[in-house]
Amino acid sequence: MADPVMPLAEAFAALGTPEGRQDPYPLYEALRAHGNVAQRAPGRLVVTGYEECARALRDAALHVQDGRSYDAHYPQWRAHSSLRAFTSSMLYSNPPDHARLRNVVSFAFTPPKVARLHDVIAGMCDRLLDRMAGLGAGGADVDVIGEFASRLPIAVISAMMGFPEQDQVWFRDMASRVAVSTDGFTDPTALEQADEAMDEMSGYFAELLDHRRRRPADDLVTLLAEAHDAGDGRLDHDELHGTLMVLLTAGFETTSFLIGHGALLALEQPSYAHLLRTGPEFAAGYVEEILRFEPPVHVTSRMATRDLVLGDVPVAAGSRLTLILAAANRDGRRFADPDRFDPARTDSKPLSFGLGSHFCLGAPLARLEARIALPALLRRFPDLAAVAPPVYRDRWVVRGLDTFPVRLGADAGART
Ligand code: HEM
Repeated sequence: MADPVMPLAEAFAALGTPEGRQDPYPLYEALRAHGNVAQRAPGRLVVTGYEECARALRDAALHVQDGRSYDAHYPQWRAHSSLRAFTSSMLYSNPPDHARLRNVVSFAFTPPKVARLHDVIAGMCDRLLDRMAGLGAGGADVDVIGEFASRLPIAVISAMMGFPEQDQVWFRDMASRVAVSTDGFTDPTALEQADEAMDEMSGYFAELLDHRRRRPADDLVTLLAEAHDAGDGRLDHDELHGTLMVLLTAGFETTSFLIGHGALLALEQPSYAHLLRTGPEFAAGYVEEILRFEPPVHVTSRMATRDLVLGDVPVAAGSRLTLILAAANRDGRRFADPDRFDPARTDSKPLSFGLGSHFCLGAPLARLEARIALPALLRRFPDLAAVAPPVYRDRWVVRGLDTFPVRLGADAGART
């Protein structure tokens, strides 16, 4: 347990240490002890309250980081191809560009469109579980993250985008390396690796885009190439690459971590595994509670474009706000017994996908994948068991399990 009187700056700094990243929750409580909105340095606020985070996410006067804000704080940012790609995407854009960039692809991610992917996703799960059965036959350990949780999201988004199946594992590894750049300038070596991966991916995207121009298909790469080539100002060259990259990276690790935590908690508590196996309707509430309790995205940030008040704290124009979604999801004013995992909660509405204009485009897709994947995994391997504790990724912003070795059980080879 962190010291409740730990100074604010010290608690915040501890989130950047390996120990803090392994278990940030006690540090969130140490921050909360200083207020739901607290000033950690001049012009720097940290927000841990649910209401305050929700209001900040919805407030049009609070902008996401974009090229202009990078110019002010990190003049050298343009030297980094990974940062250039992110800043050319909707995730790092503000009005008026944001809506334009989002509109190019948003129709493909609506709940009805995504619901139609149900059987495709179920088929992908079955194929991945067949493969896992082969790997674990005879009692061999299998990493449920590397072989299942991380493969499903990349297979799904690759199919939507039109990436060839044989390149998916390569994409997964590249996307992992590029995503590190979202941790900002804290780790120069990781940023260098993110740039290298981005350059490789850009070369690949260019070839694939050319291929689709010659042979159009019913996929997002074709659609994005057309939007760019129309020359009507919908999507310039950098935005085309930024959109491809953000669609690939935003949903891959996040959904992998959602499924990974779902598997971990089900193996820790066999009654959940039983309910997931026997009553698939239980999966919806279970997935919602995983999102609240162990959100894959812990933190996002905003910048105030004018003076405003958040909670009862004045926020001056130019201030930067760190919104800790994972802390908001455990705010005792909003959730009874917030540190207890309880899939029976109703009307939970965690902030795990954000809110407002940047609300996660892939939320319906991520939910559907997890709701299909977890029951399928547990039905296929009724004796699934952990063989060692999972290893957490050493990162704060996007946090989850890197590896989790399991044994599949006696009749792993058989299909149920
Ligand atoms: C459990 C899985 C996921 C989580 C926890 C998650 C979380 C988030 C969060 C918190 C944001 C908002 C960031 C902010 O406001 O600063 C966001 C935005 C976004 N997410 Fe997700 N995401 C997930 C899966 C996906 C998937 C599967 C996709 C697939 C395409 C996706 C695509 C996006 C995009 C494009 C945005 C930017 C939206 C905008 O700026 O308008 N995400 N996500």
